[in-house]
Amino acid sequence: MSDQKELSDISWKAFNALSLKEKGDYFRADGHTLIAQQFSRGQLEALCTLATRIKRINKRREGANFLKTLLSDKRAMLYFAQPSSRTYLSFNAACQILGLDTMDVRDTATSSEVKGESAEDTLRTFSSYADMIIMRHPAGGFAERVAWMMAHTKREIPVLNAGSGADQHPTQALLDVYTLARSFEKTGGIDGKHIIFVGDLLRGRTVRSLAWMLTLYKDVTLYFVAPDSLQIGQDILDLLDQAGTKYVVSQDFASVMPIADAIYMTRIQDEWDVEGEARTTDSSDFRIGAEHMDIIKDTAVIMHPLPRRKEISTEIDNEPRAVYWRQMRNGMWIRAALILSTFGREDEVNQYYDDYKPVA
Ligand code: NCD
Repeated sequence: MSDQKELSDISWKAFNALSLKEKGDYFRADGHTLIAQQFSRGQLEALCTLATRIKRINKRREGANFLKTLLSDKRAMLYFAQPSSRTYLSFNAACQILGLDTMDVRDTATSSEVKGESAEDTLRTFSSYADMIIMRHPAGGFAERVAWMMAHTKREIPVLNAGSGADQHPTQALLDVYTLARSFEKTGGIDGKHIIFVGDLLRGRTVRSLAWMLTLYKDVTLYFVAPDSLQIGQDILDLLDQAGTKYVVSQDFASVMPIADAIYMTRIQDEWDVEGEARTTDSSDFRIGAEHMDIIKDTAVIMHPLPRRKEISTEIDNEPRAVYWRQMRNGMWIRAALILSTFGREDEVNQYYDDYKPVA
């Protein structure tokens, strides 16, 4: 008997009682990408290497044509029940690079959900037409429920979480790790770096997923800089404590700027504001602009998951240390790498790469 943990063997209640790490073992075994906690450092490194290989192979027409054959037998369903530009487009582009056909629902007002169908039934329907579901949903944990449901309806197709509630955004964390790894390629990698998160850390799902992934690196120090009412959740700090990752919680951006290797800015997520609750406080101290460029290190990078508002001044867009546009492009390559390895087809890319050795 196999000791692999399979979602089809566990009740929803028992599953919900598991820790994130334990849930991650189930997701990994079933080929889903749902939470940051399911990744190991080795897997992150393999995905980053694969992303760079795909990018290089794609530079030449023969290479691009080869990539398009890899998943031409597959179809993906993109179900985005929340606004999205970058994540949706980069997943769609990643599918195109690999020859995967895509279908989408971007507005639940155009689906039978308006006739009273549950989102679960809608997704069960989609699963009949597709080999993979890529989904974004406002309810935290809903993508997990969908994956569990698939296993229990014997329609076991992978589910990729493209953002769930204010909780998880594992593929954004992948592209953030990829961006950090590439930015620090010549300075010893991510190990030992000081990474500063700024803005709405309470409801910014990208920070929550990335902070955990960074626990996989040695001697990193994380700084959480936010107004008190928007500070990072205790649940994330508990995970960092368990992992033995150092962190500092602060409101004083100026004092930590000079030690930063990476500054990860975020916008105020006021779509989650509850009426009558004054979450959205004055955030003017939590911005970066031209006046800070002399204070931060020459080797530092400034990141943002985008969309931005005023927390990064457009004056610094052409600054070499501003990597947020590159970070966004990295999303397409790492998502292509993730999709390819989800279908277990990465060996073909590695073989092609070794045979033709495309250069950067
Ligand atoms: C983020 C998100 O949706 O969580 N956007 C993204 O995917 N790049 C960040 C945000 O909306 O602020």
